[in-house]
Amino acid sequence: MSSSPSKTAAPKIGVCPGSFDPIHNGHVDIIDRCCPLFDEVVVAVLRNTSKEPLFSIDERVEILREVLAGHPRCRVESFSGLLVDFMREIGARTIVRGLRAVSDFESEFQMALMNRRLDPRVETVFLTPKEEYSYLSSRLTKEVFRLGGNLEGLVPAAVLERLHQRLVRV
Ligand code: PNS
Repeated sequence: MSSSPSKTAAPKIGVCPGSFDPIHNGHVDIIDRCCPLFDEVVVAVLRNTSKEPLFSIDERVEILREVLAGHPRCRVESFSGLLVDFMREIGARTIVRGLRAVSDFESEFQMALMNRRLDPRVETVFLTPKEEYSYLSSRLTKEVFRLGGNLEGLVPAAVLERLHQRLVRV
């Protein structure tokens, strides 16, 4: 019987891209759901966002690393430029995005098709968060913070802590 050379399959890498300014519990829920589906999960934080961020890129990466410290197969990286170029660099082909409601669909659909157009090997998959987080967004958490509302239970402790530090500083 002839033995065929053993081939090691490339690890399946899922990429969760986003601005994460700040990460909220809906993001954490999607990343949690993503982990069992891939060998490795890369949380990719966009560097060159056009919006004025609340947290710098270094702070966002630091917060994410702290929040995801208990996720052994998950790593946090930042990227600039096209997402598909970053994916090519790390050997990933699957983008994972959270889909909260129908209102997310149009822009997510556009991004998925554009990414596929830019690199036909790239697929986008959508996961739905827990219902209790389906209304959460980074934009709303920032607004609530700025207006003095309570974000307990909506963002990880690492975010709350830094938000409180900001309040002490101003
Ligand atoms: O958390 P966000 O702001 O909804 O994330 C958007 C993100 C970072 C996934 C998207 O803006 C992105 O991938 N930007 C990188 C630039 C890019 O590749 N653009 C073309 C494809 S949409």
